[in-house]
Amino acid sequence: MSSSSPAADHSEWWRNAVVYQVYPRSFADANSDGTGDVNGIRQRLPHLATLGVDAIWISPWYPSPLLDGGYDVADYRNISPRFGTLDDARQLIDEAHALGIRIIIDIVPNHTSWEHPWFVEAMAAAPGSPERDRYLFRDGDGDSPPTNWIAVFGGPAWTRTPGGQWYLHLFDSSQPDLNWTNPEVRAEFRSIFEFWCNLGVDGFRIDVAHGLAKDMSFPDISESTAVLENAKVPDHPHWDRDEVHDIIREWRGVLDRIGAEQHRDVMMVAEAWVAPESLPKYLRSDEYHQSFNFDFLTCEWDAPSMRDAIVRAIGAADTVGSTPTWALSNHDVVRHTTRYGLPNGTDWRAWLLDGPHDICDAEQGLRRARAATLLLLSLPGSTYLYQGEELGLPEVFDLPLEVLDDPVWENSGRTRKGRDGCRVPLPWTPDGVAFGFGDAPPWLPQPAIFGALSATVQRDDPDSTLSLYTAALALRRRHWVGAGPLEWSDHFDRPESQVLCLRRDDLLCIVNFDVEPVALPAGELLLASAAPTADGRLPGESAAWVLTS
Ligand code: NOJ
Repeated sequence: MSSSSPAADHSEWWRNAVVYQVYPRSFADANSDGTGDVNGIRQRLPHLATLGVDAIWISPWYPSPLLDGGYDVADYRNISPRFGTLDDARQLIDEAHALGIRIIIDIVPNHTSWEHPWFVEAMAAAPGSPERDRYLFRDGDGDSPPTNWIAVFGGPAWTRTPGGQWYLHLFDSSQPDLNWTNPEVRAEFRSIFEFWCNLGVDGFRIDVAHGLAKDMSFPDISESTAVLENAKVPDHPHWDRDEVHDIIREWRGVLDRIGAEQHRDVMMVAEAWVAPESLPKYLRSDEYHQSFNFDFLTCEWDAPSMRDAIVRAIGAADTVGSTPTWALSNHDVVRHTTRYGLPNGTDWRAWLLDGPHDICDAEQGLRRARAATLLLLSLPGSTYLYQGEELGLPEVFDLPLEVLDDPVWENSGRTRKGRDGCRVPLPWTPDGVAFGFGDAPPWLPQPAIFGALSATVQRDDPDSTLSLYTAALALRRRHWVGAGPLEWSDHFDRPESQVLCLRRDDLLCIVNFDVEPVALPAGELLLASAAPTADGRLPGESAAWVLTS
């Protein structure tokens, strides 16, 4: 294990952590080739340390043709030459640890890239061969695929090989699904976990955690609901199947054993798009340590909906002794600064292409986003931040169609724009060809507004979103971490309204979802997302932390 890992520690650090997601392609470009890289992350570690995060989650950094932004892995034990070397990764892990920052990496077990040597071998091998058995090859019915399953990115979930068989891919055709009933597949992933633990990583984010297990009789699907919504249908042939839990328990056994040997806690967090009532199964004590909470992330700007999502997540985690997690954005969704600028009820994925774009009120979006941040950071459990949200970056919804890179664009028959707008490279400085991201034009163009939103501009402005995040993370660590359970306190001004007021011990977080100001509770104002009104009230669409004794 790397030499400067944190000392022996079984504190279950992940239970209260603030984890910052780095999308390596778009974070910082140290070698100025237009694409972010591992050395760029190393150079910007001071930004993350000053911000005050406990860990970073790095989206896939492996060798990959990047046909799905790296979620198409060709080699699970190396770093893409576009991003650097394994030695750069080792140094990053050591340097982060020296700053007290832990590292979570992304593991993609549902599928590989079609450039993975296993898939290349499978394509060259005969039907029924052991090489093909690592994936899901099946005969179709003449020119029809084996089932009517639809890929998440659009189009059929099966692609025909030149020899006539079909292979399954729940995502892009460049992402063939692995066969998790195959013992070799299972052994390979146990060994991959071990490899990265030995390099010193502290945790794993597991991609498509509700996938993996398939109904091996391959029935057709009768529901016509949206493909991700299908994950909520009971006994679905490829989402959220009971068999997936055996696989999870196997991985947990590996992490627990390594953790015991290395005297530290190694965690894993699930990306599981399942019904809220199904989630606790993933969080049993011998399964995942945590799971993302998409219920909260996808909530509209509405106090009762947010409150319900919070109650559900805390309840679900409680039933199995886990802790809830919270996030507002990630690399797959429209940035929340923009979502909150749209009228409630807008289908923001469709809005990217269809508009009308002038219904987005950017100032309202930023106001609400800043308020939601204080709510997020007051909640018990851990928080996942997405790179650039500390700068209040909006979604770049008007990227020219010819630069779109997300497979969603082509696979949907150009009816869905996809996720590029939240993946535009970060601005670090007000000027320069890439606003300090690097010294070359970035792989996706940045809008002019990024200069004013850059980290160096915001660092010296006490009212900036970056300053709000920095102050909030420091206060969170001092006051909220370790505070007691959440209770709801009806704010005296508006008992049943668009005002949420939660209490943990002597701390209050009050969020005014309405546009009119409300009275602040008595006590010491620790932080507010907007300055109080002249008569000392909390403005509309803002939040505050108050210490009451
Ligand atoms: C979820 C990841 O977050 C997303 O970016 C990716 O496209 C799919 N899984 C497929 O791996």
